[in-house]
Amino acid sequence: TSIRQMRMEDLQAMQACNLQNLPENYTMRYYLYHALTWPGLSYVAEDHKGRIVGYILAKMDEETAEGAPPHGHVTSISVLRSYRRLGIAKKLMLQSQHAMASIYRASYVSLHVRKSNRAALSLYRDTLGFSVEDIEKKYYADGEDAYAMKLSLQS
Ligand code: ACO
Repeated sequence: TSIRQMRMEDLQAMQACNLQNLPENYTMRYYLYHALTWPGLSYVAEDHKGRIVGYILAKMDEETAEGAPPHGHVTSISVLRSYRRLGIAKKLMLQSQHAMASIYRASYVSLHVRKSNRAALSLYRDTLGFSVEDIEKKYYADGEDAYAMKLSLQS
């Protein structure tokens, strides 16, 4: 598998991958919005036949208060089941984080994750060094709480 920047023709496959892996799904319009607005922040993992087996969909936060430093946000990341534990998600996160800092001077990156999502929590906290900033009660449609997590990109 290899990691590369997302292209317009990947959008359908990214959406299909998301539908297989997560209950948080998005309209094609929302994928397109990410691709058109922040083309450098989203990446895909493809197998040797060019099939998309993982993606990261990311953006710059648009609700930043006036004068506050810009920061990145991971909208969604997932990897197909049979390609997990190979370091793909870690690589996707690092690529996007690097682009957030170098293209947009992001001072940190934020994301939300389900409290029960042990694999993702371990990836963010243990592997990448994120910390839990806040708990957002009933953030998800089914009533589950989210951890709001952050990682500084200043180094
Ligand atoms: N259990 C414990 N730790 C894990 C697990 C797991 N199942 N999966 C990953 N990790 C941790 C480990 O520390 C791992 O390092 P190691 O393999 O050397 O021990 C490290 O994360 C890196 O793992 P990767 O191989 O890079 O992760 P992977 O490519 O398997 O993808 C992901 C992880 C994205 C969470 C995957 O399990 C997945 O797609 N899950 C379903 C979708 C999902 O939950 N996405 C995140 C939602 S939150 C959001 O999108 C902002």
